[in-house]
Amino acid sequence: MREEELAAVAKIQAEAFFEASPIAPLDPLLYYIFQGGCLSALQEKLKYTKDGFCCLVATSTSEPDRVRGVVEISLQGEKEELKVLREKGFEEESYAYLACMAVARDARRSGAATALLGAAERMAGKWQQNFVLLHTFADNFPGLRLYHANGYADMMRDPDWRSLLGFRKRVLMAKSASVFSVGNAVQSISTNILKVWNPQAEQDAA
Ligand SMILES: CC(C)(COP(=O)(O)OP(=O)(O)OC[C@H]1O[C@@H](n2cnc3c(N)ncnc32)[C@H](O)[C@@H]1OP(=O)(O)O)[C@@H](O)C(=O)NCCC(=O)NCCS
Repeated sequence: MREEELAAVAKIQAEAFFEASPIAPLDPLLYYIFQGGCLSALQEKLKYTKDGFCCLVATSTSEPDRVRGVVEISLQGEKEELKVLREKGFEEESYAYLACMAVARDARRSGAATALLGAAERMAGKWQQNFVLLHTFADNFPGLRLYHANGYADMMRDPDWRSLLGFRKRVLMAKSASVFSVGNAVQSISTNILKVWNPQAEQDAA
């Protein structure tokens, strides 16, 4: 994976997830540090996760070298999430987990995130997982709409005490393999080129 592609991914993630501090003059510095953190976290994941991790990026057909969106998918088996699935009657030992979904501001509402979801779900299918899980903030209206529109269901909301302590509440969402790759997800693939960065595949090729 090229360094400039990694840097472009980190920039999109930083722009999407940086939260302004109460001390505005500090923000440029804090933003710079945050973007560096996004880059090094991604580098670490690609370097040390042997398999079960993929960074998917969306580019446009007109500018195939320009990264427009990103999502990370990994194989997980966290007890808390497995318990939620079990309570709904699903005895799973693992699941695919989506994180860090972000689309460049000037590329939004053109189907990039939908295409990324479709690609991630196909990856989950390849890993023989029955569920794709993710967290989004309960006040992230665009995120919630995106996931609901693509067939994700709310599984669990963080308890109220989280907001009393000043934390943003999250929603755990899930999609079952029985509805993977339906609807828009397949359709919009054709308008975006999707690259898959899989550390294992790169090692095999080397
Ligand atoms: C949320 C986000 C990833 C959506 O990316 P996107 O490429 O614009 O999404 P899509 O074009 O595939 O949108 C698909 C559907 O999601 C919903 N949606 C997406 N953005 C929306 C918005 N700002 N307001 C309302 N609905 C929205 C709509 O239903 C949309 O379909 P439509 O355009 O036909 O109405 C993008 O806004 C983003 O990067 N936000 C900041 C980071 C973030 O919140 N990530 C999710 C964290 S879990």
